[in-house]
Parts: sequence; structure tokens; C-alpha cells
Amino acid sequence: MAENLVINQGSKEEQYQTLLPQIKSLTGAETDVVANLANIAAALKQTFGFFWVGFYRVKEDTLVLGPFQGPLACTRIRFGKGVCGTAWKEAKTLVVPDVDVFPGHIACSSDSKSEIVVPVIKDEKVVAVLDIDSDSLNSFDEVDACYLEKLCKEVLAELL
Ligand code: SME
Repeated sequence: MAENLVINQGSKEEQYQTLLPQIKSLTGAETDVVANLANIAAALKQTFGFFWVGFYRVKEDTLVLGPFQGPLACTRIRFGKGVCGTAWKEAKTLVVPDVDVFPGHIACSSDSKSEIVVPVIKDEKVVAVLDIDSDSLNSFDEVDACYLEKLCKEVLAELL
């Protein structure tokens, strides 16, 4: 249950290792997609204190905002636009250490400084992206990419 989320106080890797099984059991007990996406965003925010964490889902030629935690965000992102639309187009994880130097970055908030976007791939198609923003530069690395890809592959692709 979300209210009983255990947060490991160790390394980032240990935090992800503690979090992922909890997300699996949480979402395994619920069939509603929005409820599960909402709790996954909350669990990531609660564990890591990210500035913004949420989902955009593919609807025809656009990413549409889904459940998230953080300040208001843009609701629609076109294919190939911004970090999210580029991760969709390239079907790969993008780690952006400084959003100001990413060509075409969409600034939903001027406080966002670095970002990671991980596509959720189902039947070889991107069906959503997980987007996480930090208000510090260089917040994300290969550890985040590895565990968030695992989350997208083992949990989100099954849900969506
Ligand atoms: N920065 C993203 C837009 C979404 S917000 O960060 C929540 C982008 O460039 O695609």
C-alpha cells in the first residue's frame, strides 16, 4: 500500500531495489491503469523527492499528459518535439544533464534543470513515456536509466 511505502536510506541503487518490488505488488493488486500510474508517480516522488514525475501516453500523433506529481505541466507534446517527443521518436531513454542545452526542450517550468525520459515499449511500439524532472543539474545517470527502464519493461508495459 502507498501509505506503507518503505524508503531505503542507502544508495540510489538500493533505493530503486527496495522500491521496484513494492511498485510491483502495489500495481499487481489493482487493474485500473490511471490508479496504477498515479501511485507509481507518487511512489517515485516520495522515494526520491523529484521535482516532477509523471506520464505522457501516446494518443494518435501526440503524447497526452497522464497522472503526475509536481507543478502543472503542458498537456500535449507532438511526435519528435521536446525531450519526451524525441524519446518517443527514437524509442530510447534520454538523459539530459542540462535541459537548456537540449535543442527544442519544452520548458513546462523554468525550475526544471535536468531530465530523464524513458519510453514504455509494448509490442515494439512506444505507448507512453515516463518523464522525470529535477530542479538541479546532472541529477540522472545510468543507474536511473537502468532501473527506470526495468520499471517500464517489467511493470508499465504490462499495465498499458
Ligand atoms: N520537458 C519536457 C516536457 C514535459 S515537462 O518537463 C513535464 C520535454 O521537453 O519534452
